[in-house]
Amino acid sequence: MNGRDKNGRADADVDRREGFWLSRKGEAHVRARFWKLATIVGAIWLAGMVVARTGATADGPQPAIPWSQQKSGLEFQSRSNRERQQDLTLNPGMLWVDQGAELWKKAEGAASKSCRDCHGEPERMKGVAARYPAWDAQTRRLHNLDTRIQECRTIRQQAAPLAAETEPLIALNALVAHQSYGMSMAPRIDGPARAVFDRGRRIYEQRLGQLNLSCAHCHEQSWGQRLRSEVVSQGHGNGYPIYRLEWQKMGSLHRRLRSCYLSVRAEPPAHGSDEHLALELYLAWRAKGLPVETPAVRR
Ligand code: HEC
Ligand code: HEC
Repeated sequence: MNGRDKNGRADADVDRREGFWLSRKGEAHVRARFWKLATIVGAIWLAGMVVARTGATADGPQPAIPWSQQKSGLEFQSRSNRERQQDLTLNPGMLWVDQGAELWKKAEGAASKSCRDCHGEPERMKGVAARYPAWDAQTRRLHNLDTRIQECRTIRQQAAPLAAETEPLIALNALVAHQSYGMSMAPRIDGPARAVFDRGRRIYEQRLGQLNLSCAHCHEQSWGQRLRSEVVSQGHGNGYPIYRLEWQKMGSLHRRLRSCYLSVRAEPPAHGSDEHLALELYLAWRAKGLPVETPAVRR
């Protein structure tokens, strides 16, 4: 590319290449050889593109870190944080779960109905968080727990929606998610969810912000490494909403994603935006098999 180096080696290379092409039976032979080589190189390049783009195999897309090697963010926390999370009597996030259980029983809105009036005890929500975000055929959109709860709140209870990231919404979300505690993440990406998944994957792999880094750069290529005061994990969302010491409260996955965008000096998409929902589905898929750990504790 750069022409010649100090020793004139570029010229020598060209000479050698010309020798290779022209050594035998004239032009037709050279052309045939060229096309053969071009076809092989092209095929390899195309195959590389397809795998890089979709990670596709006969069994469907595969994550960059094989599922058998996925590690929950819990494993990257300090010993004291691990204890704080796993001993539910110490876990500060359980205060939000308890608050959610109170709200569950409270009649709201013009319909004057509580969650319990329609759904029974919170235990009936067991397994729901493990398969969210999920496509909803009725509303023809992907729901995460927040948007699902909001829908019940506005349509079924006929109450005003809860503002994003507020205590009652986080508490209800934590209550519902905690019912799946210990169950394996098992989201579905077939049917209409597939397009959302593909979008999430594209966002995950695209470079962002002034630092020009993608989610994958940090969480798939650099996990286990230290970044300032933190150890970069594989970036799973299986413990959300989480109690974060830095926040001194519970926060959603979308709030965490905001921190990641800001850390690469990128403008974060809005809370609850389609971009974040797509990423959330992609994250849930790559965390398949990890246990739901809500409420997780993070530094
Ligand atoms: C510059 C590196 C960097 C980039 C780029 C980055 N993150 Fe993070 N991310 C971190 C750090 C540091 C943390 C906090 C420590 C940890 O849990 O990994 C974190 C935490 C997370 C967590 C929470 C993990 C847990 O167990 O609580 C998720 C989920 C996540 N990131 C997803 C993403 C997504 C999606 C993107 C792309 C939009 C992204 N990150 C981009 C560095 C990064
Ligand atoms: C008037 C009845 C009613 C009320 C009140 C109600 N819901 Fe629902 N909820 C439903 C119905 C109906 C569905 C849809 C069930 C389905 O799609 O199979 C649903 C679905 C859900 C789902 C998704 C379940 C799944 O399997 O995907 C969640 C989560 C949920 N509601 C939470 C709540 C919460 C939290 C409240 C209280 C803030 C609440 N709901 C109040 C009727 C209600």
